Amino acid sequence: MTDTYAVFGNPIAHSKSPLIHGWFAEQTGQDMTYQALLAPEDDFQGHAEAFFAEGGQGANVTVPFKLDALVFADKLSPRARRAGAVNTLQKGQNEEIYGDNTDGIGLVRDLTDNLGLDLKGKRVLLVGAGGAARGAVEPLINAGVARLKIANRTPEKAQQLIKIFHGLQPEAELAAGNWDSLEGSQFDLIINATSASLSGSVPPLPRGLFAPGAVAYDMMYAARPTPFMSWAEDVGASEVSDGLGMLVEQAAEAFFLWRQVRPETTGILHRLRMLLQEEAHG
Ligand code: ATR
Repeated sequence: MTDTYAVFGNPIAHSKSPLIHGWFAEQTGQDMTYQALLAPEDDFQGHAEAFFAEGGQGANVTVPFKLDALVFADKLSPRARRAGAVNTLQKGQNEEIYGDNTDGIGLVRDLTDNLGLDLKGKRVLLVGAGGAARGAVEPLINAGVARLKIANRTPEKAQQLIKIFHGLQPEAELAAGNWDSLEGSQFDLIINATSASLSGSVPPLPRGLFAPGAVAYDMMYAARPTPFMSWAEDVGASEVSDGLGMLVEQAAEAFFLWRQVRPETTGILHRLRMLLQEEAHG
């Protein structure tokens, strides 16, 4: 029987997930469907319940439902619990719903496998302390970064966030603060996890943050460089990347959880990049 999967979001019409999972299924010969489902902002639960009751096997969850999905899940993976957000749901053998978070591992895979970065011993700045940032902290620590600083417009949120991850092994030096607290520091990797790009703005970070050879990464993606990527190039980043690879890698990890088959992502990422460019020019 064909297994059914979906992504829930609002809005959801422009989601690339059905395309990505369709390509994964084709590549690995899996008998499954994957559709985009719009849920009203105040009733994720009702729509998710109906989907699983009608035979749905698993779902991805995107903005604004990652916290609703955390509450909806019967069981959570430790990384989803610490991230405080769920982007992947899976129906278990006893019909219980398992919640996981593959965003952070998707980010780290894109950085290491696709962009070829060695994160061990690196000084990393995470800009933002919302849902997107929360999922990234644990996988970055696991990847062996030496120092992780979280800077946020509301610094209290960054401080609360690092408290959750103190004492995790391997240990990284964790710090939190506002924009001013960054003055005089340098980083090997700066990741934008704010939603500032959506309004076309860039957090007012001081100049001089990029160490020689440093990389800038925006979790957002677009056919053209995001405002954060343009800013980073102007102020000395050696390399800049958007988050399209993270989107593909988090999807691959979810696909693996559901199907126990790991799709090959390099070709898919390339295909998606071409499509994005065609859409922008068409
Ligand atoms: P998400 O789940 O997508 O991360 P979120 O939880 O609303 O969304 O978090 C958005 C993040 O972007 C927060 O870190 C937010 O900063 P605050 O905690 O101070 O709200 C940050 N953010 C949004 N717009 C911003 C802007 N224009 N400048 C700087 N930071 C911004």
